[in-house]
Amino acid sequence: MPDGSGIMSEETNDGDVELEARLAEQEAFDPPESFVEQANVTDEGIYEEFEENWPECWERAADLLSWEEEYDAVLNDEDAPFYEWFTDGKLNASYNCLDRHVENGAKNRAAIKWEGEKGETRTYTYGDLLNEVEAFAASLRDLGVEEDDVVTLYLPMIPELPIAMLACARIGAPHSVVFAGFSADALATRMNAAESEYLVTCDGYYRRGDALNHKEKADKGLRSVEHDVTSVVVDRLGEELTHFLGNDARDYDDLVAEHEGASVDPVSRDAEDMLFLMYTSGTTGEPKGVKHTTGGYLAYTTWTSHAVLDLKPEDTYWCSADIGWITGHSYIVYGPLALGTTTVMYEGTPDYPERDRLWEIIEKNRVDVFYTAPTAIRAFMKWGSQYPEEHDLSSLRLLGTVGEPINPRAWKWYYKHIGGEACPIVDTWWQTETGGMMITTLPAINTMKPGSAGPPLPGVSANVVDAAGEEVEAGEAGYVTVDKPWPGMLRTLYNNDDRFIEEYWTEYSDEDADEWVYFPEDGAKIDDDGYITILGRVDDVINVSGHRLGTMEIESAIVGVSGVAEAAVVGGDHDVKGEAVYAYVILEDEQEPSEDMRDRIVAAVEDAIGPIARPEEVLFTPELPKTRSGKIMRRLLEDIASGNDLGDTSTLRNPEIVEEIAEGIETES
Ligand code: PRX
Repeated sequence: MPDGSGIMSEETNDGDVELEARLAEQEAFDPPESFVEQANVTDEGIYEEFEENWPECWERAADLLSWEEEYDAVLNDEDAPFYEWFTDGKLNASYNCLDRHVENGAKNRAAIKWEGEKGETRTYTYGDLLNEVEAFAASLRDLGVEEDDVVTLYLPMIPELPIAMLACARIGAPHSVVFAGFSADALATRMNAAESEYLVTCDGYYRRGDALNHKEKADKGLRSVEHDVTSVVVDRLGEELTHFLGNDARDYDDLVAEHEGASVDPVSRDAEDMLFLMYTSGTTGEPKGVKHTTGGYLAYTTWTSHAVLDLKPEDTYWCSADIGWITGHSYIVYGPLALGTTTVMYEGTPDYPERDRLWEIIEKNRVDVFYTAPTAIRAFMKWGSQYPEEHDLSSLRLLGTVGEPINPRAWKWYYKHIGGEACPIVDTWWQTETGGMMITTLPAINTMKPGSAGPPLPGVSANVVDAAGEEVEAGEAGYVTVDKPWPGMLRTLYNNDDRFIEEYWTEYSDEDADEWVYFPEDGAKIDDDGYITILGRVDDVINVSGHRLGTMEIESAIVGVSGVAEAAVVGGDHDVKGEAVYAYVILEDEQEPSEDMRDRIVAAVEDAIGPIARPEEVLFTPELPKTRSGKIMRRLLEDIASGNDLGDTSTLRNPEIVEEIAEGIETES
């Protein structure tokens, strides 16, 4: 047992033990020859080629799309950092994801293969998908949706979600997808911020066999929306959940039936026209509306799906993320469909009905490329290798991860037990704001180093710098920066150009010299060979199971509970989730800590954001550790939550409190 994990101890056979020992020590892995032979991008010279030919190199990405009108310039940087890409080009994202494949003879190829949690399946060919998208696009128009109106989609992992996204794209109405696990309040905040007058939602969906009532949550959210809203409701659960449509709501099936056979011409969109908005967490309590455009975003996600995920039209590909997050937008819907690939969608959880559900789906669909998150891999490791071993996973050719750093042990487990040591792994670093992958190996070209994402992609100018903006020495920690724009980048924060500049372009830019440097707020270190290891967020954002949450959002929910005086929320290390939410709470003088108070705090967080933000622990404390100048020592609270050594605390204003809190944690756990 080389690493004391308990995972490896399942192996009894001597050969396996030797193999495990070798794997545990191995620090570099080359892509197998069989993969290289068939890969989309194999020329090592691509890095130099992109550098020498920047920004025209990005024509390679644009060439993967069908343009209605050619663009005049690849990049317009006159008003940096409000960059424009592929200026004056015209295209439609839905045309690129559907019509052109149908026109090219792929009408009967599967576009979406959907697996419901309870075992039912639905397959949409490219022809079917185009028909349904047109019918729903015609329906939206009938309801009054016009070009540039923001349509909110509050839907779980059912085919109607990508259908609605593509229908919006077809008529030039930007979508704003709100993750179905988010609360009613979170829905209302996003609809108000986007002034969105249209909502597509559903009655409910399944989670571990239970029918969840989603409509009730949507209705509750709508009560806090300040303007009139027209909604459409998908009937996912049929008789299992009867629901009231309400006065302003229409039934999705009725609408689509009414508009069956409709032909809706894809609207010609400018490359810089908004394709969608996606709200994400930042340092303050207000979520940020990240704006992505039609030309640059689509070119970038299509290019990275081609170059990094190695997708080909004949592939069956599965990304197990939720479409409610950026990963699902870019790499379940837009990138794969633009390439004409078959994309798999799964409604449920990985452990329902059994812990082998994902492997069963891979075997059944003969999945070629699989993309998931480190938190899922750590859960699979915990459950044990017997689950994947029950299935034939030999169809797999490439594996990917995204969302948070992957520890080498989880990487190696994935490599051996899922990839059978025959599939390269791409560890892809990127963000909601970047639109697509930025730092990762190219699977047929680079050696893989478990735990390190790899070099920046060709054409991506990412560095690791110190606080003064100087590049750090190899092996030292610093901050990721990107000093050249890229086509998939966010263009602004919706209705808030000032915050866009403040959040991303202030720290390292030199405005007077017109030098703009993007700051993603991640820490990292860099090796001699230019490989970047991401260390995690350096702002007040925590990453729970690959889900991005703002500590301020959680704190403001907690201080809203009557009896709470102050709260500090931090991320503490967690075996499976990567990070978990720890809430330190000070009660008002007359209040005593109690189970009831704890329950009310947890409920308040769930109401404001959703169950994903639920605190792992709520710790009542009479004080928070503060510096002499009165600043809360968050770093110390993180160390307490993670069980780390606390070091010297004597410079605090109230050092005794640290011990008291740490003891509290031990008694709780
Ligand atoms: O901290 C980085 C982490 O996830 C953050 C972005 O979160 P979000 O916008 O929700 O997008 C997640 C999916 C792209 C980053 O700032 N992150 C993402 N991918 C990785 C990662 N950290 C380490 N390694 C990765 N591969």
